[in-house]
Amino acid sequence: MDGFVRVADVDFLPDPGQTLVEVDSEVVALFHVDGAYHCIDDVCTHDGGTLADGPLTGHVVACPRHGATFDVRTGAALTMPAVRPTRCHDVRVAEGGVWVRLRTAAADAAPPASSAAGGAGAPLVAPAVTGHAGGAAAPAALVAPVTPAGLSEDAVREMLREVKDPELFVNIVDLGLIYAVTVAPAADDPAGRQVSIDMTMTSPACPAGPQLIADTKRAVGRHEQVRGVEVRIVMDPPWTPDRMSDAARDQLGIF
Ligand code: FES
Repeated sequence: MDGFVRVADVDFLPDPGQTLVEVDSEVVALFHVDGAYHCIDDVCTHDGGTLADGPLTGHVVACPRHGATFDVRTGAALTMPAVRPTRCHDVRVAEGGVWVRLRTAAADAAPPASSAAGGAGAPLVAPAVTGHAGGAAAPAALVAPVTPAGLSEDAVREMLREVKDPELFVNIVDLGLIYAVTVAPAADDPAGRQVSIDMTMTSPACPAGPQLIADTKRAVGRHEQVRGVEVRIVMDPPWTPDRMSDAARDQLGIF
């Protein structure tokens, strides 16, 4: 059947459920969600975690190693630290079985086929999950505040470019982690400045969080006018890969 390999009986997996199956000597992850089967590589593109072992919530599976999440319908990486999609394969349900055809690359142009259990096996078009750089509306907090003379919000953002995510080696401004910067006169020193930064993390359980906060305070606190730096962690709106700048996407090889 056009390169498809039967991997299981149609009632083999509970719904929701997930398992490993072998296709053409490759082991891949098969998911059963809302009556349809989906198949992706059992490989997290961050550092090789096994996705079939991760918790499944709706169509989203989380890597058990560092928490990156993937859409099982498309293989799209939804949250850091993964930024590249994992390979997604075609699935059909026919003749009482689930059939999988391997794709050669995550970036295949055609959308993957997924099949409803018990259906005729017609491919379903998977929705796009991630957008292009700059596609998401900026949160209201990104509107630049008025800052006192001598130290501007832009100057603070430039300082923050020194701070890099320790796993991705991209600075936190280009990653889109900085939601707002406020510069105000210091309470006990009119010539000094108090800086407040609203910053997000790529995921609530980001292991680099404490280091990023410390590095942020250190980078801004070095300025001669700065008397204090407050970093607030904001998880709403949540960070998504489309908040990255074109420079960050270039650096990470995402097109
Ligand atoms: S290996 Fe999957 S998130 Fe790190």
